[in-house]
Amino acid sequence: MCDRQRRPVPPLGTLRSSWLLILVVHSCLSSFAVHPAAAAASSSSPSNTDFQTLLCLKLHLSNDPGGFLGSWKQNDSIGFCRWPGVTCSKTNTSRVVALNLGSSGLNGQIPPCITNLTLLARIHFPDNQLSGQIPPELGQLSRLGYLNLSSNSLSGSIPNTLSSTYLEVIDLESNKLTGGIPGELGMLRNLSVLNLAGNSLTGNIPISLGSSTSLVSVVLANNTLTGPIPSVLANCSSLQVLNLVSNNLGGGIPPALFNSTSLRRLNLGWNNFTGSIPDVSNVDSPLQYLTLSVNGLTGTIPSSLGNFSSLRLLYLAANHFQGSIPVSISKLPNLQELDISYNYLPGTVPPSIFNISSLTYLSLAVNDFTNTLPFGIGYTLPNIQTLILQQGNFQGKIPASLANATNLESINLGANAFNGIIPSFGSLYKLKQLILASNQLEAGDWSFMSSLANCTRLEVLSLATNKLQGSLPSSIGSLANTLGALWLHANEISGSIPPETGSLTNLVWLRMEQNYIVGNVPGTIAFIILKRSKRSKQSDRHSFTEMKNFSYADLVKATNGFSSDNLLGSGTYGSVYKGILDSEANGIVAIKVFNLDELGAPKSFVAECEAFRNTRHRNLVRVISACSTWDNKGNDFKALIIEYMANGTLESWIYSEMREPLSLDSRVTIAVDIAAALDYLHNRCMPPIVHCDLKPSNVLLDNAMGARLSDFGLAKFLPTHNSTSITSSTSLGGPRGSIGYIAPEYGFGSKISTEGDVYSYGIIILEMVTGKRPTDELFNNGLSIHKFVRNAFPQKIGEILDPNIVQNFGDEGVDHEKHATVGMMSCILQLVKLGLSCSMETPNDRPTMLNVYAEVSAIKRAFSALCVEK
Ligand SMILES: *[C@@H]1O[C@H](CO)[C@@H](O)[C@H](O)[C@H]1NC(C)=O
Ligand SMILES: *[C@@H]1O[C@H](CO)[C@@H](O)[C@H](O)[C@H]1NC(C)=O
Ligand SMILES: *[C@@H]1O[C@H](CO)[C@@H](O)[C@H](O)[C@H]1NC(C)=O
Ligand SMILES: *[C@@H]1O[C@H](CO)[C@@H](O)[C@H](O)[C@H]1NC(C)=O
Ligand SMILES: *[C@@H]1O[C@H](CO)[C@@H](O)[C@H](O)[C@H]1NC(C)=O
Ligand SMILES: *[C@@H]1O[C@H](CO)[C@@H](O)[C@H](O)[C@H]1NC(C)=O
Ligand SMILES: *[C@@H]1O[C@H](CO)[C@@H](O)[C@H](O)[C@H]1NC(C)=O
Ligand SMILES: *[C@@H]1O[C@H](CO)[C@@H](O)[C@H](O)[C@H]1NC(C)=O
Ligand SMILES: *[C@@H]1O[C@H](CO)[C@@H](O)[C@H](O)[C@H]1NC(C)=O
Ligand SMILES: *[C@@H]1O[C@H](CO)[C@@H](O)[C@H](O)[C@H]1NC(C)=O
Ligand SMILES: *[C@@H]1O[C@H](CO)[C@@H](O)[C@H](O)[C@H]1NC(C)=O
Repeated sequence: MCDRQRRPVPPLGTLRSSWLLILVVHSCLSSFAVHPAAAAASSSSPSNTDFQTLLCLKLHLSNDPGGFLGSWKQNDSIGFCRWPGVTCSKTNTSRVVALNLGSSGLNGQIPPCITNLTLLARIHFPDNQLSGQIPPELGQLSRLGYLNLSSNSLSGSIPNTLSSTYLEVIDLESNKLTGGIPGELGMLRNLSVLNLAGNSLTGNIPISLGSSTSLVSVVLANNTLTGPIPSVLANCSSLQVLNLVSNNLGGGIPPALFNSTSLRRLNLGWNNFTGSIPDVSNVDSPLQYLTLSVNGLTGTIPSSLGNFSSLRLLYLAANHFQGSIPVSISKLPNLQELDISYNYLPGTVPPSIFNISSLTYLSLAVNDFTNTLPFGIGYTLPNIQTLILQQGNFQGKIPASLANATNLESINLGANAFNGIIPSFGSLYKLKQLILASNQLEAGDWSFMSSLANCTRLEVLSLATNKLQGSLPSSIGSLANTLGALWLHANEISGSIPPETGSLTNLVWLRMEQNYIVGNVPGTIAFIILKRSKRSKQSDRHSFTEMKNFSYADLVKATNGFSSDNLLGSGTYGSVYKGILDSEANGIVAIKVFNLDELGAPKSFVAECEAFRNTRHRNLVRVISACSTWDNKGNDFKALIIEYMANGTLESWIYSEMREPLSLDSRVTIAVDIAAALDYLHNRCMPPIVHCDLKPSNVLLDNAMGARLSDFGLAKFLPTHNSTSITSSTSLGGPRGSIGYIAPEYGFGSKISTEGDVYSYGIIILEMVTGKRPTDELFNNGLSIHKFVRNAFPQKIGEILDPNIVQNFGDEGVDHEKHATVGMMSCILQLVKLGLSCSMETPNDRPTMLNVYAEVSAIKRAFSALCVEK
């Protein structure tokens, strides 16, 4: 099971994305609360038109005659007001005023004939598979007040004709809409709720948006909007919710937003806002949720924030603040969540911060504080559930009083300078995660371990890289059955591993290397780990049974009899065809047919199914279905039906003469996308997944040139292998990747590890920068691509760059400021440096994917900044 995909930055859950908290509060639609009328027979022409129009809708909205619209019967011209989803007017009884077809399996396109329902006031079609465009003709529905098409697959742009309606509610969230937000929407006088989140909208927020005096909620999150927040919107006096999270918006934060007497939720996180937090506040402000995390904000955190007395959540993570945390924050009576992580703030945390008794979540991670923790922290934070102080430069003893904060579920004090003996946390019966790694902590008599037996929900226990001494106590076997990860590596533990460890039946990740332990991991543990991962696969919630089934005949038809015209590529394990399946929204899919004669191919199919079944991420190719059946000769036939990636493989973009050269910008973006996918597989999947066959031909590019990893044929779940290095590793059968990209240690029989993927990633970076394959004939006699690049780094890097990059930015650079070119060179150097460190010979010298992802994201930010300057 894995986390749903996340945005960059937060290792170990330090940043809480606040999008969970963004609810559209408003839905006062009483004006449309018309009730189904017992339809009177009427032969008047408008009602007959409504009947005909409903049949027209039925024809276009669903290709499934047995589906929801099946009960809309052609011969029933009288009773149509009683059809499911149809509501007629009370007064004009046979006239349709509302269509409520949410989650009804609709999968066609919205036809223009809908405008013949001239009294229609409400269109509610969310959670379907509608595709195609939003018909501009909707603008003719002059009574339309409510339009909800959220969670469909609508594409194209938002029609500007909508402005001629009386729309109060527009919800188009989670579609595939592109283009800008029409300025005309700002002219809708009654507009109250506008939700366009989760599309691919570009351009600025229209300057007229906010002129409606009824505007209550504006949610434009998860798009790629640019430009500033228009002042009309910032000054809108009715606005209660403004959620712009995850765009590329910039400029300063308008002070009016902080002076508002209506705003309750303000979420500006994950953008490029700059300047400082406005030092304004309104005593009457009802503001409850304020998220400014992951922007470029500078200056000090103003003490005026302490005036927002309704504030429940304050996220300021990952900006560039200076100075200290204002004491005034500790006076906020209702504050429940506070995140100031990733700011590299110096100095000390005001002790009063640890006195905010309402806090349930506190993250001060990744700062340069020099505090000790107050002795009584566990009494002054009685409600705390999550405490994240990782890498905050804290020192001294861990206060034993933490054990009195009995609501604690997650404690992360990793990477600080805590010393002394680990206290007993046995009273924390809700504890799920205890991370004390990378400190100078001691075990004492190990009584903390036996007390942890009381924490029956414990899932993660990391004590790695400390000064734990002595033998592991047998009480280790009494740790909770829920424990999945136990990290004790890099300590000074001696003796042997107690056999009781074998009773940790759910353990999937045990690390004990770099200690003085003698003997092997007891066989029972290895056995249990194997058994466990099989079991967890079976019980996984997301299984293929939810997916559509396709027959062999379907696939023959889709690929025109697996015709070679449709062959996209082939490898040892089989061939990939392009195919057309009528049931898919845009028809085209890729079908990977496994060559079952080949030794290992059935395994490869299983590995790939398992990997896909356990993963979901925007940078992983999506599987539509798996097909395991017999062909027409009765032979086993196995195929995966996956998303078709229009722009082919990364390999084809680096080397094909047919393609236009990849810009540096695209290369950087692709590097970020691959890193995001690997970070997800390595760090957000439990058990972690190692891809094992990373190479440019397994990186596919979508329509927007976003990169997605594919080909999990060799993917490995880490725990299916002995995950401690104290057992002498035996060589594993089967291939481990492709020549040129395989980590050198695999050649010596080392076990599969995430470090191996990091190596392959490094090679891909070097390949993208040089335009040379690691298998290029240039590389022989001990010269590898790594050494080749290293020899040129940094002075002579210009000489080994892919000429296509140089040519590209030569063009871009000629007429522009020189510093842009210098800046690009600096990005390239950073990228090269990253590629070099990832492809180090020794696994321990390579960074983890967590760091790689953070690093490459920073490079991309710096690079995008340059492009904008030009
Ligand atoms: C419509 O046709 C179906 C058979 O297709 C029949 O069962 C039903 O009674 C008819 N309804 C009306 C209103 O004529
Ligand atoms: C009935 O519909 C007509 C338009 O077809 C409209 O002019 C009239 O106002 C409606 N009557 C009521 C009571 O809504
Ligand atoms: C609306 O209905 C009329 C006649 O009932 C028809 O001619 C026209 O094509 C329909 N409009 C649309 C957009 O389907
Ligand atoms: C749109 O429909 C979805 C699904 O029913 C619902 O969750 C959402 O609140 C609706 N949007 C508005 C603005 O009412
Ligand atoms: C934005 O995307 C994130 C990550 O996919 C998701 O959790 C969040 O709910 C989205 N926000 C909105 C308002 O749609
Ligand atoms: C804040 O709003 C008040 C009126 O509510 C106004 O008088 C004041 O000038 C505003 N301050 C700022 C800085 O916008
Ligand atoms: C704090 O916790 C310790 C250990 O569980 C316990 O002995 C002590 O009584 C607690 N103190 C208070 C005030 O509850
Ligand atoms: C374990 O839990 C029990 C009951 O919840 C409690 O009485 C006991 O003090 C706890 N043990 C430790 C070591 O905290
Ligand atoms: C990627 O593919 C899409 C669809 O085939 C195409 O429109 C687009 O131009 C391609 N992108 C590039 C950069 O060639
Ligand atoms: C794991 O270790 C055990 C012995 O401790 C060994 O028998 C087994 O073959 C190993 N499994 C793998 C997959 O390396
Ligand atoms: C972020 O904002 C700064 C300052 O306005 C600007 O220089 C930079 O180009 C922006 N970066 C991005 C990625 O938009």
